[in-house]
Amino acid sequence: MSKDSLTITDNRTGKSYELPIESGTVKALDLRQIKAGPDDFGLMTYDPAFTNTAACKSRITFIDGDKGILNYRGYPIEQLAEKSTFLETAYLLLHGELPRRGEAESWAHDVTHHTMVHENIKELVAGFRYDAHPMGMLMSTVAALSTFYPEAKDIHDAQVRRKQIFRLIAKMPTLAALAHRHSMGLPFVYPDNDLSYCANFLQMTFRVTEPTYQVHPVLEKALEVLFILHGDHEQNCSTNAMRAVGSSGVDPYSATAAAIAALYGPLHGGANEQVLRMLEEIGSKDKIPQFIKDVKTSGGEVRLMGFGHRVYKNYDPRAKIIKVMADRVFEVTRRNPLLDIALELEHIALEDEYFVKRKLYPNVDFYSGLIYQAMGFPIDMFPVLFAIPRTAGWLAQWEEMLLDKEQKIARPRQIYLGSPRRDYAPLEKRG
Ligand code: ACO
Repeated sequence: MSKDSLTITDNRTGKSYELPIESGTVKALDLRQIKAGPDDFGLMTYDPAFTNTAACKSRITFIDGDKGILNYRGYPIEQLAEKSTFLETAYLLLHGELPRRGEAESWAHDVTHHTMVHENIKELVAGFRYDAHPMGMLMSTVAALSTFYPEAKDIHDAQVRRKQIFRLIAKMPTLAALAHRHSMGLPFVYPDNDLSYCANFLQMTFRVTEPTYQVHPVLEKALEVLFILHGDHEQNCSTNAMRAVGSSGVDPYSATAAAIAALYGPLHGGANEQVLRMLEEIGSKDKIPQFIKDVKTSGGEVRLMGFGHRVYKNYDPRAKIIKVMADRVFEVTRRNPLLDIALELEHIALEDEYFVKRKLYPNVDFYSGLIYQAMGFPIDMFPVLFAIPRTAGWLAQWEEMLLDKEQKIARPRQIYLGSPRRDYAPLEKRG
């Protein structure tokens, strides 16, 4: 008997089975042989919300949630945040290695020269109501890109894939800025290819009448760091959506639109927006004890947004970096008055038995919104600011899924608990 195996005895039949263990997992399909009788379908696993199921083998991002470790392609997030740029990190996520000199230049050139969007996209955005949520506009315009680039359907051609990857990474800031400008009733500002990825995004977002928009280097660096921290996070809800939708063979624009939809939810990328709304609602430090009480007595209904994580049962390493970054940003912008409420909330929560027992620590969203707000972004742009850099991770995961011979169209099983077969009753006989 192999040491790397699991022996299971089925008490219904008394039969024993030996299942191989590989990388700390057993194959769910190996359970299928375990049957109570000849007509039995075979044993399945039941795992709603995938809390203990590995759905893929990946070489992109490593997380140790208990120790608070996050690495992209082996590189610690702390080193990347300090030393890298977002574009370099995006290259790393997608290619597995940091770019060498020539590669870095041609990658930056390719992304920079795909920042424009078709003029009809502007008209599409103009059709949205003045108060449309920018995330809804982003989701729609990304989906619309699939109609502008029909060749993107050829997902098995590596060159075609490469081109859509440049396009998506390059156009996300343009589409995001377009959504913001529409919300503000401001004219669209075209990309400036002489600027860095982040500086260009800032000028497309904030430029008003000045001929050359001066981007403050501290704010540009802060955005680089925030984008690096949001680049990828292995198999979270939106990445799972990207992989699942992409597994049908659809083009990457449609799959990315699905991932954006998943990210929009308040329990995922929408949380940074909810944190700010929560801090504004609390309003002052003296209201914190009552708010904490409400959280603890609501039976899970009122949550301390920006706290807790499915994987991190320790301080989110990204939150640590962002907390330091916040101080640097506030030296340039004015100090965000909500910061004091956030610091006090964190202080109380980290000592409160309710949060300690459940291992609830600040996550990436707890402080990022405070920086974005201080930089001048309206609250409903926060999830959009998450979607821009995460596009690199989604695309890396999508391509890895496509090239993985073990992957097929995603199709979970279910346990059917509904009515047994019955005959249709005409309306007059339904009581
Ligand atoms: N505030 C108060 N209680 C919480 C919180 C919170 N933020 N998060 C979890 N809990 C409690 C739950 O009520 C539950 O308590 P119980 O055991 O008494 O029922 C327990 O902690 C476990 O929570 P689950 O919801 O089972 O944990 P899960 O892993 O499913 O959820 C999640 C993780 C969704 C992130 C959750 O912690 C949450 O809702 N946090 C607030 C939203 C948030 O900040 N999301 C951003 C996540 S980071 C990201 O997506 C980029």
